[in-house]
Amino acid sequence: MRLRLIWLGVSFFAAAFAQAGDAVLEGLTAHVAEHPDGGAAFSFPRAAYAKRADLAGLPIGVFDSGIGGLTVLEALLKADVFHNDNLQPGADGRPDFVEERFIYLGDQANMPYGNYPSSGRTDYLRELILKDALFLLGNRYWPKADAPQPSFDKPPVKALVIACNTATAYGLEDVRAAAKEWGVPVFVVGVVEAGARGLLQAPEDGAVGVLATVGTCSSEVYPKTIQRTLGLAGRGIARVTQFGSARLAGVIEGDPAFDTELKVQVAGDVRGLVEAHRAARSGGQVVPLKKVMLGCTHFPLAIGEIDAAFGKLREDPDLAPFIAATRDYINPAEWTARELFRELARARQRRPAGNAAATGDRHRFFMSVPNPADKALPLAESGGLEPSYKYGREVGRLGVEDTRVVPMTRAGLPAVSRRLVEEKLPAVWEHLPAE
Ligand code: DGL
Repeated sequence: MRLRLIWLGVSFFAAAFAQAGDAVLEGLTAHVAEHPDGGAAFSFPRAAYAKRADLAGLPIGVFDSGIGGLTVLEALLKADVFHNDNLQPGADGRPDFVEERFIYLGDQANMPYGNYPSSGRTDYLRELILKDALFLLGNRYWPKADAPQPSFDKPPVKALVIACNTATAYGLEDVRAAAKEWGVPVFVVGVVEAGARGLLQAPEDGAVGVLATVGTCSSEVYPKTIQRTLGLAGRGIARVTQFGSARLAGVIEGDPAFDTELKVQVAGDVRGLVEAHRAARSGGQVVPLKKVMLGCTHFPLAIGEIDAAFGKLREDPDLAPFIAATRDYINPAEWTARELFRELARARQRRPAGNAAATGDRHRFFMSVPNPADKALPLAESGGLEPSYKYGREVGRLGVEDTRVVPMTRAGLPAVSRRLVEEKLPAVWEHLPAE
């Protein structure tokens, strides 16, 4: 009966989306309704949620466009800012999520997400984001890229963390709306709202500089969310300047398509932010950049290089007035951990103490790869999707699985990404299976 009600609900909302002319939500909602057993790609078994009164024992889903979101997972694994027993703020020597299990998805084959909007493919990006959420809600994945059949033993999740700034900018509202419409009682946390709240702890003086992808900047999600968050906290309007980099995430990741040296890329992007800030000065009043929002998952990995670039630019007397002597960096990942803890506590969905498995296979990691069974798939030399194909796709081809989600392992990561995770994200590395 319950299933039937959900089905009717889904049909109703499919109709509502159709009326609103939203092809993305309409298409996926109809697809989900057509595959209630979760056997097809981009669907989930709806009974998994309908049967459960208590979701607390389920894992938490975390997704990003690639490996960048592992910086968010690292922050989640390490966070200790609450007392686990009484939920009061403060460290208690035990990681806040010590009892929880995480399932991570990096949509590596379809990244960078930050470049879809400037290619006129915002709707396709929205579809990708909803597919990420569907993967985490469902139980289907490919045990190997070339396996003859998918596997169906992945558990559903009780919460979704959008560990990607661009995906939060373009998909947070869609994912929240879709979860509601599909009758899935999960809550959704995004990095942008969390990062904006992090600003409340930074000094009030000075301007805010947002470094992010081109897509995140063109969505204006940070300036809007920052002003709203400050306003709700009774603060005045902040000076916010943003700069979108089309390349820095790729360079940090070691993607062969972005082969600039890290220092050179960072120097250019930081200069871009400072010059944009100088150009935005109004009425001659100079407010130096003092707070820097690391508005892209990858950027905390280059915080040293970023701060050094600000320092270097400050040696230029024309630019020095626009840069504070010392800068505060806001890493949304750390604030996302707090947000997630609070939301889990509020929903009474913290996993009961004593349930943590020893270590090792407690968390599960997945990533997308080009589908090797699709022999006509245009591939670049690096083996990834050919960019004109990647950024030329249309929404609604839900019977086409041009990428497959497979387990992410140390051995399966591209060499540069592997080194990055090993050196900079030790908590993630420890849990990532060797092969
Ligand atoms: N993870 C993305 C973000 O935080 C950066 C990489 C991409 O463009 O896909 O915005």
